[in-house]
Amino acid sequence: MDVADLIPAPVAVRESPEGSVRLDAAATVHAAPGTEGTARWLRGVLGAAFGLPLDPAARAEEATVRLRLDESLAAEAYRLDIGPGDGDSRGVVLLTGGSPAGVFWGAQTLRQLLGAQAFRNAPPAEAEAVLPYQRVEDAPRFGWRGMMLDVARHFMPKDDVLRYLDLLAAHKLNVFHFHLTDDQGWRIEIKRHPRLTEVGSWRPRSKWGHRASELWNDTPHGGFYTQDDIREIVAYAHARHITVVPEIDIPGHSQAAIAAYPELGNTDVVDTSALGVWDTWGINPNILAPTDRVLRFYEEVFEEVLALFPSQFVHIGGDEAPKDQWKQSPTAQARIKELGLADEDELQSWFIRHFDSWLAGRGRRLIGWDEILEGGLAPGAAVSSWRGYAGGIAAAKSGHDVVMCPEQQVYLDHRQHGGPDEPMPIGYVRTLEDVYRFEPVPPELSAEEARHVLGTQANVWTEVMENRRRVDYQVFPRLAAFAEVAWSALPAPAERDFAAFASRMTEHYARLDALGVDYRPPAGPRPEQRRPGVIGRPIEGSPPNV
Ligand code: ACM
Repeated sequence: MDVADLIPAPVAVRESPEGSVRLDAAATVHAAPGTEGTARWLRGVLGAAFGLPLDPAARAEEATVRLRLDESLAAEAYRLDIGPGDGDSRGVVLLTGGSPAGVFWGAQTLRQLLGAQAFRNAPPAEAEAVLPYQRVEDAPRFGWRGMMLDVARHFMPKDDVLRYLDLLAAHKLNVFHFHLTDDQGWRIEIKRHPRLTEVGSWRPRSKWGHRASELWNDTPHGGFYTQDDIREIVAYAHARHITVVPEIDIPGHSQAAIAAYPELGNTDVVDTSALGVWDTWGINPNILAPTDRVLRFYEEVFEEVLALFPSQFVHIGGDEAPKDQWKQSPTAQARIKELGLADEDELQSWFIRHFDSWLAGRGRRLIGWDEILEGGLAPGAAVSSWRGYAGGIAAAKSGHDVVMCPEQQVYLDHRQHGGPDEPMPIGYVRTLEDVYRFEPVPPELSAEEARHVLGTQANVWTEVMENRRRVDYQVFPRLAAFAEVAWSALPAPAERDFAAFASRMTEHYARLDALGVDYRPPAGPRPEQRRPGVIGRPIEGSPPNV
């Protein structure tokens, strides 16, 4: 393998022609204080792939692989020196990070340098772990390099979530935005309100394909994570320097919660006791009632959420909340009057601001979809800009932090090719190259304003992804291009060398094969990846939303 086959591309690689370090049964690892977690990870992953003990060394000077910190480097930066060392015939791998996270990202590079075998769980008869002498210097462009996974539309079992955390780590992504609740399912155990999962995590059937499809999947669907599952997921992510940002949607996208507790809905407008968990897709009219009782209920939910997720940011959704029920509801109208608000949009803003200050009072920061900008936001709140760049630009210009995730560029549920064989093809055609040319910082922002762009994330909505293989198909290979956008200091979109990236992808496909990822092959879907006869296209003239 050529060192240039690293993905995401590092800042600089200097190769030295004269030799290599071989990791064999005598190779040892020394971890300076703070780097023990990465040493454990290396021993687990490379130990399994190559059948090596990679025993701990008592002293750094005796070790083949030496992990250490150097605070003069940026926190997530690392330097990887592979060379002869001080006359040791085996040579030395010196991995230095600006923080434990930097060391961990350097270990991801080390794994890639060892070839596709390093991504397997057991060695073939003869596995050679050889590292050519070189020096890699690297640091990320953005501090927020994320992927959002919707486990509400289709539940993803815990082990598959853990696998996704491994896949994010392998691409140096560090935020897992966990979309846990929606109209079609509530996926997190809340002890104070058990019906959220007893009732809200199951639906009797699902729409098969786009919402306009005539087809149904009549298998009941559901599942949820217990609080022990969540603790495991958060700890597993933490060990990989990934922050899990939970999302609990308010006031829209709430039909599963209302189905579980009908009093959460606008009972003076609709018979919420007759609502089930939603079985189709699109924008749902059932939103939460703006009552004190509902606020208390969700505070109780968030209390349990905060106890489980140490993340500074907590996502409250805030998108796609139709106001028709509030317009008709005497209770909502009385609330608007009592609060002296102009209209239902201001009522939504009041709802969001309530949780904004509630979270701020507990040392956390609210983040929501860009609709939360309408009506004003408290300082400290941040925005996920999904309806294009405009929300993000407005947020940054008014001093709010932003995560750029415009649906036109980085919604990975959207089809990746215009051909007729794409499985349930929804949304825009966004190819691997389109994602590679995505630029998170729009030119409308000054350098000062651009500092509010915390970073970027790719969003994976799962209406048409009923299991892990379908998620893999939509996510890969595009997540590899996205990771390079988020990590590497790429030139302006038109100047990016996609051909060189595509060439590096040849080696990366071998890594993904070794990992068992069901990516979309460059030549198009394999037979079992096609879904003939299932409508997936948006209706003419409608938004791509499924
Ligand atoms: C969204 O896609 N509705 C955030």
